[in-house]
Amino acid sequence: MADIDGVKEAKSFYTDTPQKTEGFFLKGSNSLDWGMKNRLARIFNPKSGRTVMLAVDHGYFQGPTTGLERIDINILPLVQYADTLMLTRGILRSIVPPSETKPIVLRATGGTSILKELSNEEIAVNIEDSIRLNVCAMAVQVFIGGEYEKQSIINMTQLIDMGTRYGIPTLAVTAVGTDMARDARYFRLATRICAELGAHYIKTYYVEKDFETVASCCPVPIVIAGGKKIPEMEALTMAYNAVQQGASGVDMGRNIFQAECPEAMIQAVGAVVHENEKPEKAFDMYNTIKNEQSKS
Ligand code: R5P
Repeated sequence: MADIDGVKEAKSFYTDTPQKTEGFFLKGSNSLDWGMKNRLARIFNPKSGRTVMLAVDHGYFQGPTTGLERIDINILPLVQYADTLMLTRGILRSIVPPSETKPIVLRATGGTSILKELSNEEIAVNIEDSIRLNVCAMAVQVFIGGEYEKQSIINMTQLIDMGTRYGIPTLAVTAVGTDMARDARYFRLATRICAELGAHYIKTYYVEKDFETVASCCPVPIVIAGGKKIPEMEALTMAYNAVQQGASGVDMGRNIFQAECPEAMIQAVGAVVHENEKPEKAFDMYNTIKNEQSKS
């Protein structure tokens, strides 16, 4: 037994200082459990409250799309500038080194390709594998108004139930059919349904008109997808407008990895998202980094 004679009693109980009870920084997330909050705090930067997710999961239904032919060569060098990497378990295991500590958002649905009806998806990863891969969130595609709307909603609720058991958040990705109107009314409907049914955060698209109404009536954080490749200045403007109008960041793929200089683009997007940099200045930053890169 340890000798306790002579041990000095020097404890500080701080009886005059009440213990701090802090609210959680993310919209609508204060009542979540510790593990869930901790994972979300790795995805969203607690200082800015926002995230730059680098989305490279396109191959799960599109194959090696432009810019993603060689993820080891083209994407791994970008990861250092992202807050989060969104991808499939196949790419994670085969290409991303396990020493990479960036939080992973795992694409957890699949089952269709661009050759067929895309909304006909199912859950494609079981919860044990998500835990094994130490992911910070699971992503599920939800096709509101799509042919397999109900199936995709059930995929989401099942994933939420499984994830909740182990403290893993679910990201609902609102997918829009090619024949459907992409307007604020649609995205208010789609994002709200996902949030009401328990999604912890939601990916949607930016719309020029009334995007702030989409963000304001969704009770959990929203991030925007980049969508099809557009000129760099326009993509930076879109990201800027989205965060100024209430988005908590971006989940951007093609507008980063298909940019003329992806390494410059992801840094410029980061400045817009985390530092409220104006699009013009962010575009200057993009050009400066791009020019430096072309010299080296
Ligand atoms: C669809 O392929 C995925 O959900 C992508 O992660 C998402 O569309 C974001 O990528 P992008 O910015 O290229 O639209």
